[in-house]
Amino acid sequence: MHRNSEALWFDCLAVPFAVTYSVTLYRGVVLEPQRALSRVLYAFGRTVVSQLPLNLPEACAEHAGVVYHRQYLSKDAQMALSAQVCDIIAAAPLFQPVMPRTGKPFSVTMTNCGPLGWVSDKAGYRYQPLHPVTGEPWPPFPPALLALWRAVAGYDGMPEACLINIYGATARMGSHQDRDEADFAAPVVSVSLGDAATFHVGGLKRGDAKSRFRLESGDVLVLGGASRLAFHGIDKVHVGTSPIPLGAALADCSRVNLTLRRVNRASTSSCGVAP
Ligand code: SIN
Ligand code: FE2
Repeated sequence: MHRNSEALWFDCLAVPFAVTYSVTLYRGVVLEPQRALSRVLYAFGRTVVSQLPLNLPEACAEHAGVVYHRQYLSKDAQMALSAQVCDIIAAAPLFQPVMPRTGKPFSVTMTNCGPLGWVSDKAGYRYQPLHPVTGEPWPPFPPALLALWRAVAGYDGMPEACLINIYGATARMGSHQDRDEADFAAPVVSVSLGDAATFHVGGLKRGDAKSRFRLESGDVLVLGGASRLAFHGIDKVHVGTSPIPLGAALADCSRVNLTLRRVNRASTSSCGVAP
């Protein structure tokens, strides 16, 4: 084939492949059966995709088990959830976690909702049923979060904890694994509100290659399957990019991240959560 017509032939194939691939991601669903196809489409369409002005998470093609639901929550749903986070903070005030042993403070502040909450202090990381400062039980899950879990987790049991991380302008989250849960069969489901942030996800070893992309307000990210124990973190918050007001209790905050977690194995839950 003539060199130019060969190039044209490739372009004709690459464009629909690239568009199909990006629309698949844009609609926010990367289902397992689509993954193999996506890899092929990605290889064909790579040059074209790289020029598209979309926030494409190339990470999803490279990291099995990472499912990115871009703009899963509408603006109204984001504002409703943000108002619910303000109610949770009123009942369970933000606390300042510190690193085990060193006592170095995290750059984020935290609270939780659900039967269990994740805390970190000099004694270590753990889940507990009571707020570390007030001694009160954590507030219940907003129903919308349970509905979200049912829709995207692909796991029969319900979540038992929702850690709420509050980022100020300079806060970040160093690379870590979420491994304080007894059941790694359940994914971790993350919801972002407020300012966008640069998220990284790597492999099972700290030094593995990382992919980076922006998590925007309303995005939902599922870390499950082969990536359940992948190292991940937040490099930077992009101040002033929030599409929504976060609400009075969050007036000085930049970004909110909620992570839904299953803590105990479904059959051995001691938290009164069905099943
Ligand atoms: C986390 O890994 O606990 C938080 C991730 C995020 O803020 O998006
Ligand atoms: Fe995490």
